[in-house]
Amino acid sequence: MQSNDADRMSQLLCDLKQANPQLLQSEKLAAIGQLAAGVAHEINNPVGYVFSNLKTLAEYVRDLLCIIDATDQVGSLEELQALKQSLDYDYIRDDAKALIAESEEGIERVKSLITALKDFSHIEEDDFVFVDLHHGLDTTLHLANNELKYKAEVIKEYATLPHVECLPSQVKQVALNLLTNASQAIKNHGVITLRTGHEGERIWFEVSDTGCGIPPEHRDRLFEPFFTTKPIGEGTGLGLALSFSIVQKHGGQIEIDSEVGQGSTFRVWLPIKQPRRVEQEQGQR
Ligand SMILES: Nc1ncnc2c1ncn2[C@@H]1O[C@H](COP(=O)(O)OP(=O)(O)OP(=O)(O)O)[C@@H](O)[C@H]1O
Ligand SMILES: [Mg+2]
Repeated sequence: MQSNDADRMSQLLCDLKQANPQLLQSEKLAAIGQLAAGVAHEINNPVGYVFSNLKTLAEYVRDLLCIIDATDQVGSLEELQALKQSLDYDYIRDDAKALIAESEEGIERVKSLITALKDFSHIEEDDFVFVDLHHGLDTTLHLANNELKYKAEVIKEYATLPHVECLPSQVKQVALNLLTNASQAIKNHGVITLRTGHEGERIWFEVSDTGCGIPPEHRDRLFEPFFTTKPIGEGTGLGLALSFSIVQKHGGQIEIDSEVGQGSTFRVWLPIKQPRRVEQEQGQR
């Protein structure tokens, strides 16, 4: 390489090094923007119809009060019945019930979105501790069992694992998301296998299902916040996005293997010791 070329190359490398943190920063900002836009969109819809239902319900209450007040004023039962009919009492009766049920569902949806978002904001809390991962997985299985038991036979294939340094409740959250997804991917009845393994400085746990599988065009979008193929009201599309941030925070990785019509496997790799601790121990030697 000529010296000119070498200069240009080192300049380029230097520019790249400087650009990288900026790029990362702008990528993070873009992700936050995307998340905020998604939240606004997802919350706007239920809030919109709950608001319009409330307006209609207020009109119904006004009419119903009118009917009740009339019981003190009317001269005959017929007069009261005529008023009920003119105010469409039968319709109000049915529609009020439907509006309340729909509004409850809308508020439930907003509530579950907010819970999912709270999980995101709690990622920074908690302390890293060494725990028995199998114990955490068993607790999570127990929690998920209500939903799983109708859908699948659950098989456990646990290896022998050392204790793992992690944020236990966050790791359980990841396992719960994967188990829920596995169960939702199974149409009638299937098998969910929970496996663990140990390789060098890392361990892994995986959730395998005999569900619908993931079409190739969806692979790149799985971790995108709000990406969901589930019907409205069923999935927020935050499960995998949240799991990704948790695993990333642990210095781990998620691997996916899936075949349409056959099933999917989500494998989570975690370092046994957090890099910070490894550095500390090396420093002490
Ligand atoms: N085990 C799986 N089998 C098939 N598809 C899956 C599986 N896991 C995830 N997916 C696909 O990835 C999408 C995103 O998953 P994610 O967990 O992030 O959101 P969700 O399950 O749709 O909603 P949420 O988890 O917020 O209730 C799902 O809608 C589904 O299409
Ligand atoms: Mg999910």
